[in-house]
Amino acid sequence: MARKLIVGNWKMNGSLAMNAELLEGIKAGLAGVDCDLAVCVPFPYLAQCQHALEGTGIALGAEDVSAHAVGAYTGQVSTRMLLDFDCKYAIVGHSERREYCNESDELVANKVQRALAGGLTPIVCVGESLKEKDAGLTEAVVSRQINTVLSVLEEREVCDIVVAYEPVWAIGTGKTPTPEMVKDVHALMRELMIRKNPDAAERVRILYGGSMKPSNAEEFLKMRDIDGGLIGGAALKASDFLKIAYLASK
Ligand code: PGA
Repeated sequence: MARKLIVGNWKMNGSLAMNAELLEGIKAGLAGVDCDLAVCVPFPYLAQCQHALEGTGIALGAEDVSAHAVGAYTGQVSTRMLLDFDCKYAIVGHSERREYCNESDELVANKVQRALAGGLTPIVCVGESLKEKDAGLTEAVVSRQINTVLSVLEEREVCDIVVAYEPVWAIGTGKTPTPEMVKDVHALMRELMIRKNPDAAERVRILYGGSMKPSNAEEFLKMRDIDGGLIGGAALKASDFLKIAYLASK
């Protein structure tokens, strides 16, 4: 996969004023960026960001999406609503939602299916907790999470997802696995996808996420099998986000 993808996950951060400044800063530094870029933002700011990103080539995404198409689901947001704001992506199954909102593997799989059916590209997050890592369960956990998603997809749909491997213990902690560890997990996930659709070898992008920042991005992004990054904290500062984008453009 030649062109890398760098996605900002703003989480529950931002305000009208902060977003405007952040996006102005990113737009001002785009010369020299030769990778795909996206920002996934809180629902209330989709309209603002859609407007600010018009004509920039930076794609817009949401941080979650409902597993339902329409109806009596108070507080949920549908794929069709996201498409109204020109969203291309929706993060699905982020570990913070799995943990704080009790999202199960099955619910995540249903959301992925719904996002694809609605024309969005889901960024499917998987990753093990510290306890699971210490118990040697990384491969088992990640395989279970990926296989539950694959079990609901048609063969052709496998190539339409983006996967983000985010070890839970690396998110927002400053700790990271070694690039070799990430490479091995990515290779395992790609193998599982290839079993369902051989085209996944070339076509599915697998991102790394978890404390990626300008000082460590290069070692991840230069690895074969790491097709980009899902960036939390460092996506909230234009200069940091851009530095990672430059490193992904090499
Ligand atoms: P982080 O978050 O870069 O702040 O660790 C990444 C994520 O949760 O997507």
